[in-house]
Amino acid sequence: MPGVIQLRTEIPGPASRALLARRALAVPRGVPAVTPIAIVHAEGAVLTDADGNRFIDFAGGIGVVNTGHRHPGVVAAVRAQLDRFAHVCFPVSTYEPYVELAERLNRITPVAGEKRTFFVNSGAEAVENAVKVARAFTGRPAVVCFEHGFHGRTNLALALTSKVMPYKKGFGPFAPEVYRIPFPYCYRCRAGGQGGGGAARGCCMASRRYLDELFHATVDPESVAAIVMELELGEGGFIPAPADFVRVLAAFAREHGILFVADEIQTGFGRTGRLFACEHYGLAPDLIVTAKSLAGGLPLAAVTGRAEVMEAAQVGGLGGTYGGNPLACAAALAVLDAMEAERIPERAQRAGDRIRARFCHWASRHSSVGDVRGLGAMIGLELVTDRESRAPDKALTGRLLSAALERGVVLLSAGTYGNVVRVLAPLVADDALLDEGLDAVEAALEAVAGESGQSG
Ligand SMILES: Cc1ncc(COP(=O)(O)O)c(C=O)c1O
Repeated sequence: MPGVIQLRTEIPGPASRALLARRALAVPRGVPAVTPIAIVHAEGAVLTDADGNRFIDFAGGIGVVNTGHRHPGVVAAVRAQLDRFAHVCFPVSTYEPYVELAERLNRITPVAGEKRTFFVNSGAEAVENAVKVARAFTGRPAVVCFEHGFHGRTNLALALTSKVMPYKKGFGPFAPEVYRIPFPYCYRCRAGGQGGGGAARGCCMASRRYLDELFHATVDPESVAAIVMELELGEGGFIPAPADFVRVLAAFAREHGILFVADEIQTGFGRTGRLFACEHYGLAPDLIVTAKSLAGGLPLAAVTGRAEVMEAAQVGGLGGTYGGNPLACAAALAVLDAMEAERIPERAQRAGDRIRARFCHWASRHSSVGDVRGLGAMIGLELVTDRESRAPDKALTGRLLSAALERGVVLLSAGTYGNVVRVLAPLVADDALLDEGLDAVEAALEAVAGESGQSG
């Protein structure tokens, strides 16, 4: 059986190179070009570039197309909505797709009790709005976030984001009243633990100590409106928080009237093997922010929260011109149908088991693989110069990504040190496609780890 990957030219081919040359003169370099290819078509988990090369997509538009590119239900729903109207502005005139989508998110999100949802355009905007709502409800200014966290590129979201290069350098001053504590990153435990695999090995409680220290030395918990947390870090390197740590944190927040905001922008909509990562932790956050795979490729983000919290913001305090655009809402309703009908979270768990098995096999063969971890299909592979020092190997990660692309797989890195390989393949990819992609990445790893003498 011929595979899906089809490479007709060198990568990038001449047509891709030509468009990237135009891009360099028209678009600032601050908007990165992570791969040098120009895409003309995408379907399911397959991308076709301007030179007719076919790639397997392990990036999924950075976690946006869990239901696959051009899911037929999504395409049909958007077309049908476009035939009715594309925009009227929800604060001006009410339309049903917005209301129905809010109702559905209120039903399926793990927030407890009566809920409300409103829509904005991007993940960063959703995070900012969740903080606004939390401040309005509590009357408190401060927000607690985590090292290695990523919450977006707008000013407050950037204040909550942890990585200096490239996200923060030169862009300050940042919003005040943001306090950061260490994320329980077991593989690089600050307390000297030797954890890995994303599992709690006793080191997680050290992070609780950091929390106590913060509230004794730096900020009064009674002035904290919210704790904003990714339960598994996305950009930070696919690091799941140990369950004990989340339990202690949630209890502390409850005790001090601090709202828990779960940022499920990357973990959401099936990626972790559950619809939401909160479900792995038995966590009912006060607010949950979602975006990315919510609308199958259209820009849409949501803030869902306890009704009494959400109703604290005054009339006119929330919203925006495009938030909850009808095309995006129609797409999201079709995504939620597909999530249910096609049992996407279960498929994610199976795909994740497959990916993890391959990653663990690579770990047994290559000393450059330091850690394999993650929930469901949100699996990361951390590359190091050697297992003794655990020094991050960003250069090797870069070479691996290039080698994978040359073999027909679009793959992304993550992590504060740029040394984590992450798979965000559409969750509709079947086993054969997944295996073909993993075979190509394995060949790439053999080539680059072999080059640097790290095999065996
Ligand atoms: C966890 C998390 N929060 C927030 C964001 C920001 O989302 P957006 O890029 O849509 O603003 C991202 C984007 O990668 C994310 O992964």
